[in-house]
Amino acid sequence: MTALLELHGITKTLKGQKAPRVILDGTDLTVDGGESVAILGRSGSGKSTLLSLIGLFDRPDGGRYLLDGRDITRLPERKAAALRSAEFGFVFQRFFLLKHLTAAQNVAMALVNGQGWLSRRKRRARTMAALDRVGIAHLAKHRPARLSGGEQQRVAIARALVREPRLLLADEPTGALDTETGNLVIEVLRSATDRGCGLILVTHDWDHANKMQRVLRLSDGKLHPASDTRRVLQ
Ligand SMILES: Nc1ncnc2c1ncn2[C@@H]1O[C@H](COP(=O)(O)OP(=O)(O)OP(=O)(O)O)[C@@H](O)[C@H]1O
Ligand SMILES: [Mg+2]
Repeated sequence: MTALLELHGITKTLKGQKAPRVILDGTDLTVDGGESVAILGRSGSGKSTLLSLIGLFDRPDGGRYLLDGRDITRLPERKAAALRSAEFGFVFQRFFLLKHLTAAQNVAMALVNGQGWLSRRKRRARTMAALDRVGIAHLAKHRPARLSGGEQQRVAIARALVREPRLLLADEPTGALDTETGNLVIEVLRSATDRGCGLILVTHDWDHANKMQRVLRLSDGKLHPASDTRRVLQ
């Protein structure tokens, strides 16, 4: 079976303040459809850099990136943008909701901006289904100011899910939330994989990482299988 995503020997050097810094140094990663993977690593280890390469916001210096077995390492930006909106969903620590729009309108924006035309009725049905999936259909008409942090993040997740992405990329999605709300958001993200969507979760939280099928640590520019040292200590 072809993996959803394969990274082979990805390298990336960024301009540092003094000298260039090697951030990724031969990173390998394989993710299958429906699989959930957590990535841990200390601050500055390159987790967000890696996600931006996977999300095609940036390109690696070397290595190969395959999506469904297709080499997209050097995809031109126009095609990358199309692939990004068709195949990927993004969730960040900050929710990036438009404050003058309702929850439903924020989610529907993801359908308006993409390729392909959908009737208003279909847009509305898909928007409500996405809000329902994250448990906040009853808040569809609320603007962000009237929503809690956890509710706002669930709107952002609904916006990421509304196009039925193949791969969900979440960069510290619980960073701005309290523990209980964070747990809820992680469960919502994890449940997205039940329908075959892959999930890559960058987090600092071991409890959240342990909810994923696989836990990896990024260090020295490479991904390593991670084991929870707390388990050993307990
Ligand atoms: N655009 C850029 N240009 C130059 N250096 C950058 C750029 N973006 C990030 N860096 C540097 O690259 C390194 C990796 O950054 P990155 O944001 O990927 O780390 P991270 O693992 O996501 O950290 P955190 O856990 O704090 O979010 C850091 O040293 C950072 O300062
Ligand atoms: Mg980061």
